[in-house]
Amino acid sequence: MIDLRSDTKTQPSRGMREAMASAEVGDEQRREDPTVLDLERRVADLLGQDESVYVPTATMANEIALRTLSEPGDELIAEENAHLLLSELGGPAVHAGLMTRPVRSRTGRFGPAEVQRMIRPGDDTHTPRTRIVAIENTHNASGGRVWPLEEIRELVATCRELGLTIHLDGARVLNAAVASGVQAAVIAEQFDTVTLCLSKGLGCPLGALVAGSHDLMRRARRFKHQFGGAMRQAGIVAAAGVYALDHNVERLAEDHARARQLAEGLQAAGVPVDLEQVETNFVQINVGALDLDASDALARLAAEGVGLSMTAHPGVLRAVTHLDVDGDDIEQAIERVPRALGVLARA
Ligand SMILES: Cc1ncc(COP(=O)(O)O)c(C=O)c1O
Repeated sequence: MIDLRSDTKTQPSRGMREAMASAEVGDEQRREDPTVLDLERRVADLLGQDESVYVPTATMANEIALRTLSEPGDELIAEENAHLLLSELGGPAVHAGLMTRPVRSRTGRFGPAEVQRMIRPGDDTHTPRTRIVAIENTHNASGGRVWPLEEIRELVATCRELGLTIHLDGARVLNAAVASGVQAAVIAEQFDTVTLCLSKGLGCPLGALVAGSHDLMRRARRFKHQFGGAMRQAGIVAAAGVYALDHNVERLAEDHARARQLAEGLQAAGVPVDLEQVETNFVQINVGALDLDASDALARLAAEGVGLSMTAHPGVLRAVTHLDVDGDDIEQAIERVPRALGVLARA
């Protein structure tokens, strides 16, 4: 199958497995694992932050960040389809006791005006205090779209003026950096906390990091332990992360080029694709516009040997390029997807 369901589907490469097999390890919980310490140092530098903390998943990184930045009863402002609102099973409420205030947007972005309109200063008797603004870059549900640096700067400046903390769900921030030509540190250093995921475009079997100042990361390490995320000989998997930073960052540009090639090929074949949305490694296909039900369309695609997945938007499927998808796969997909969706038959 040409597996375009997600960039989480990658298999660890031979080189990555070799790096894992020969990793030096120690007791991570006691901060004695040299490979984890190396990875944490490198990611902190990459993101322009003092420290980073290694955890098993980006979900845990987000949840620890939110807990670190707030107290139960505080409010979180985030885009309505942000991963941490839509796909973490209510984690912000469960783990951090946060009230959530969703912002509506088409591109996954919002600006100072929305924050100014929604913020509540809080008082001692009735009103909860708005405490965190969280943004996602790239933004998954809008199709892997990138926040322009200037928009991030304006939003961060407003949050600082209003005394709010600001979290970046940068699970795919390296896709944003590679696509925009802006260094990851220039994007990420502006935030109080940042999540980076290793198991998406970077091709690791697992792992993520949360980064921030020394003070915040001291607090984050306590929550990591409390959440059950403090590990033992974790260097065996952290080695995959070190390997990925050396080998799999710049090549994200190939995934982006393949997504663009796929999007243009599909559009030329008559498949409804919004080319403007294709900024990184996601292509969204509007099967609703073909009067197809999304589940039926997925089944037809699977029968043609192409794996796509659902999105947050009714009638819209997505194809995601990644390390294990090559140029031949894209050419094949450009033939098979229109056939599966009956587009050529209609032409
Ligand atoms: C933007 C974003 N943040 C966080 C996550 C969570 O990652 P994980 O499923 O590895 O915990 C995802 C996963 O798709 C994501 O897309």
